[in-house]
Amino acid sequence: MLVSAKEMLNKARDGHYAVGQFNINNLEWTKCILQTAEELKAPVILGVSEGAGKYMCGFETVVGMVNGMLKGLNITVPVALHLDHGTFEGAKACINAGFSSIMFDGSHYPIEENLKLTTALVNTCDILGLSLEAEVGAIGGEEDGVVGMGECADPAECKMIADLGVTMLAAGIGNIHGKYPANWPGLRFDVLESIKKTVGDMPLVLHGGTGIPEDMIKKAISLGVAKINVNTECQLSFSAATRKYIEEGKDLVGKGFDPRKVLAPGCEAIKATVKEKMEIFGCIGKA
Ligand code: 13P
Repeated sequence: MLVSAKEMLNKARDGHYAVGQFNINNLEWTKCILQTAEELKAPVILGVSEGAGKYMCGFETVVGMVNGMLKGLNITVPVALHLDHGTFEGAKACINAGFSSIMFDGSHYPIEENLKLTTALVNTCDILGLSLEAEVGAIGGEEDGVVGMGECADPAECKMIADLGVTMLAAGIGNIHGKYPANWPGLRFDVLESIKKTVGDMPLVLHGGTGIPEDMIKKAISLGVAKINVNTECQLSFSAATRKYIEEGKDLVGKGFDPRKVLAPGCEAIKATVKEKMEIFGCIGKA
């Protein structure tokens, strides 16, 4: 059964580790992430962007697929199915479809509008027992065609949103979606520290987990980050392994063209990436 992310994130915050959110794109992705989490006894959050939801034939298909896998793969670790960077309409659609966790990203609105829309969802999610992530200070880089500026969140605005009663808060601290440019100055730990001071106990979310050096990840966790999102890194490792299979001409040998064979190296690569991240996040054995 899908669970809210609340308990797993509060435990992570108290235990000084982070739970990984890994974004899913299709059946293989979902299966590999769930199998790795189960094997490593780690709680896990499956992230679904609105674009990925559309690609997978809608949120109901996603809920059906994930619920089917929890049963079919005998998954016992806590799993949350989470809308990533949702619009208000997307959040409503995911609540109706059976997601267990919602992110409403109102960071591009003026703070009053972000507060108003987040408030409406706090009440709904509360009644339904779903976890809710809100965002302040747009995360840089590009995701589903939405480009943020990589700004740093204002701690006072973070407090206003946190005080609404959301479950976890994503705040821009110089992080970017996708690959980091070579001249990226790194995470703004001074900003993270002042946000943490103003929001108190609230578990913080670090987006753009791809390519952040291990020492920065660990420092961010020590300063209150309890959820880290990874998407691009699984895509990169999947495509590199798939490229290798094709370039080595393995699809031309015997039944090497069977899609289950073509996709197998990419799947193994995703599993290795998820495992590597979970080791750094410290969530292995915490289910
Ligand atoms: P990356 O694609 O940079 O790993 O970021 C993922 C993310 O933050 C999803 O919300």
